[in-house]
Amino acid sequence: MMRIASTTPLLVTLSLFVLIGSFHIEVCNGDLESLLSSWMRPGKGNGRGDREGDKEVGGENQGDIGGLKMKFYENICPHVDVEKIVETITWKNASGNPSLGAKLLRMHFHDCFVTGCDASILLDPSTNKASPQVEKEAGPNLSVSGYELIDEIKTRLEKECRETVSCADIIALATRDAVSFQFQKRMWEVPLGRRDGRTSLASEAFKNLPSPSSNFKLLQDAFDDKGLDIRDLVALSGAHTLGITQCGMISTRLFNFTGRGDTDPSIEKSYAETLRSKCRQSFETELEMDPGSSKFFDGNYFKIVNQKKGIFESDATLLTNSFAASLVKEFEDNNKFFAAFATSMVKLGGTGVLTRKNEGEIRRDCRFVN
Ligand code: HEM
Repeated sequence: MMRIASTTPLLVTLSLFVLIGSFHIEVCNGDLESLLSSWMRPGKGNGRGDREGDKEVGGENQGDIGGLKMKFYENICPHVDVEKIVETITWKNASGNPSLGAKLLRMHFHDCFVTGCDASILLDPSTNKASPQVEKEAGPNLSVSGYELIDEIKTRLEKECRETVSCADIIALATRDAVSFQFQKRMWEVPLGRRDGRTSLASEAFKNLPSPSSNFKLLQDAFDDKGLDIRDLVALSGAHTLGITQCGMISTRLFNFTGRGDTDPSIEKSYAETLRSKCRQSFETELEMDPGSSKFFDGNYFKIVNQKKGIFESDATLLTNSFAASLVKEFEDNNKFFAAFATSMVKLGGTGVLTRKNEGEIRRDCRFVN
């Protein structure tokens, strides 16, 4: 198995750069535009934008990618390299915190799946007790973290370019950069121009975020609802190559699968026993989702799933559909996984985006509407 650590020999690092460079170019050029324009569905926020940046782009919204644009801020904040600022702050934080990539990936996914990538997950609860709960208070979001990094980036960008860079774009960029830190190279391009939403409801999070006990049909439907196909579902599930969970998340799977004190038979037998003995003590015991490799962004998650060691039913169920199962095999190859993940992250990042001037706002503080 190839792992990429800071001690990686030069040769391996160089060859990776070449490989990443090749898909990077593929995703950056015209391919990306055709990919997104064919995928973007008409609907909330996915139409052609009329934001400030548009007037700088000649003709028929040249370079417009489903309402988002490459290098969007070059036109509206020309004296500042917005992407570089986000990268520098994110990499500074990532160097002391190897779980940052996991945190931000999950935050970005949970933001985009709930009313689109509009930074609604960042909004703090209202001081008015009668107000409904916000997204970050919903059960599936209670373990989401990384908010302070977004605050730090926002504070800096407000100094450089007031009320210009959206919190939603900051999440998308910081996620890319936190995952890319391991490679010291941007792993995918991020089209920009998202605006920030003005509402955040816990009920929407409950409705839209898939449960870890989902079967294939439920996952397929949840992703299809966002314009994402089976390839995206499998590639994005590869995010579980990073990060941790707690025994409580899989207690039913381990100890009471069908209500008779049994274990999910789809887990490999000896691995199930290892998990049971770890989790007997406390449901708060932490579990790596990709054991031994949970700090490395790589295709190892797919090997684990193929060995019937996927941590959630939602991971194991990828083997129950023949096309998905063939992709799980394909993505064991790091380079195939990286390329597919890059493509699918761009699609995920375009989910339900607000891009028109009359939609949403550019928040001054990511935790509050203006
Ligand atoms: C396919 C449906 C998915 C389900 C049912 C699911 C469910 C979960 C659950 C239950 C956890 C553990 C949370 C906890 O222990 O508190 C988790 C962790 C995580 N998920 Fe997913 N997830 C899915 C897809 C995704 C996608 C698409 C991404 C990103 C692109 C993602 C990224 C992550 C990451 C990185 C973690 C680890 C977080 C950390 O360690 O801080 N997941 N997921």
